[in-house]
Amino acid sequence: HKPIRVALLGCGTVGTEVVRLLTDQAADLAARVGAPVELAGIAVRKPNKHREVPADLLTTDAAALVASDVDVVVEVIGGIEPARTLLLDALRAGKSAVTANKALLAEHTAELSAAADASGADLYFEASVAGAIPLLRPLRESLAGDRITRVMGIVNGTTNFILSGMDSTGASYGETLEEATRLGYAEADPTADVDGFDAASKAAILASLAFHTRVTAADVHREGIASVSAADIAAAKALGRIVKLLAICERVPVGGDGEGADAGATEGISVRVHPAMIPRSHPLAGVNGAFNAVFVEADAAGEMMFYGQGAGGAPTASAVLGDLVAVARNLVQGGRGPRESAYAGLPSRPMGQT
Ligand code: HSE
Repeated sequence: HKPIRVALLGCGTVGTEVVRLLTDQAADLAARVGAPVELAGIAVRKPNKHREVPADLLTTDAAALVASDVDVVVEVIGGIEPARTLLLDALRAGKSAVTANKALLAEHTAELSAAADASGADLYFEASVAGAIPLLRPLRESLAGDRITRVMGIVNGTTNFILSGMDSTGASYGETLEEATRLGYAEADPTADVDGFDAASKAAILASLAFHTRVTAADVHREGIASVSAADIAAAKALGRIVKLLAICERVPVGGDGEGADAGATEGISVRVHPAMIPRSHPLAGVNGAFNAVFVEADAAGEMMFYGQGAGGAPTASAVLGDLVAVARNLVQGGRGPRESAYAGLPSRPMGQT
């Protein structure tokens, strides 16, 4: 089979690791895919800031790279634009896409997925939630024959680092946030993490996959951790509990009121992000530091938990590479991932609150 040509959009912490893994494992990847996987170009804003990747692959013209002779576009830029336009251009042209972009997916998966369906391209996004942890593929594929009732997880490493720190030291929120920033866990502007926006995007993606519907970030009830005090943590401890920022997606009964889109509905979904006191004996209570974990309940499978590194260059690149292998295999073997029609089903209307 002819080589699979890959365009990489963005070359930050994750992109750099993607280049390294693609280069170091070229022979193994070719064997697993059934064709060489070649990096055709890397789109960046400032080429002179990327000395760790081959200079001849760098370009500042992302649109031209997407339009060139490539089979797959890997997007690790983040944010809505220009990522959205570049991915839509790729998908409309029949080029498969791999993205780690949770903010984009939480708003525009339906649009991206429809574009992929129209051209027969693939859209994979394992790295967008919980970094290295294989989680979306199990929800999308392994559990596709089951009925998932609940997905509940710690999906933001920064806030888990802060809450774990407060629990173990008794220090205040402010002091612990300072420590997290000093150690490089929290961003210079930690708003998206501590106010729960990052977790809400991930909750929207998880709920969409788990319940075969479309949930956007705006549907998610969101509360961050900025008002969690040392006294709250101590009170939880005294009750044998621990405070965690949880993303909770669950099926809930609703009374159909005979009107509107959910006229006859008997079941809706609740998707929310907020600090919660959980028993110290719960599997999620032992997830400390910057780790992520997601607890899933399904009718036939029962309870299971996915645990691992939810952020960082190499762990996130691992998930991106796994997706790249999947789409490259599909190109070589003629397969395709799930289509948008798989997510147009019940429950009919997502709800932010119970
Ligand atoms: N800011 C995110 C976190 C990075 O702290 O988990 C991974 O999405």
